[in-house]
Amino acid sequence: MAYSDKVIDHYENPRNVGSFDKNDPNVATGMVGAPACGDVMKLQLKISDGGVIEDAKFKTYGCGSAIASSSLVTEWVKGKTLDEAAEIKNTAIAEELALPPVKIHCSILAEDAIKAAITDYKSKQDK
Ligand code: FES
Ligand code: FES
Repeated sequence: MAYSDKVIDHYENPRNVGSFDKNDPNVATGMVGAPACGDVMKLQLKISDGGVIEDAKFKTYGCGSAIASSSLVTEWVKGKTLDEAAEIKNTAIAEELALPPVKIHCSILAEDAIKAAITDYKSKQDK
């Protein structure tokens, strides 16, 4: 399967790989799995008290498209509010990376990871 140049770039030079302390009250953690292939993606957001995403890190155990999708979203979410980040659509990720149809679920994984992280953050705030 041929990967696009952008996928290869993110795959070979992934941005923001790593993790934050998940017990930090300003850290949101989204962990999602793809039923289609068993890949797992962990996305963490560091959120300011004002509700802006200051930093993001990911760890993805999966294919090149999943790694590229998560790398890309760590760049996209920085500086966004949670509401703005929630608007990021998998179709935009797939388009940016020129993902072929069989790899669309990899971009859905990245969208789901953002949503899972936001849900985690909101449940932390409620405590
Ligand atoms: Fe699971 Fe991509 S199919 S690694
Ligand atoms: Fe399954 Fe990419 S996440 S093939």
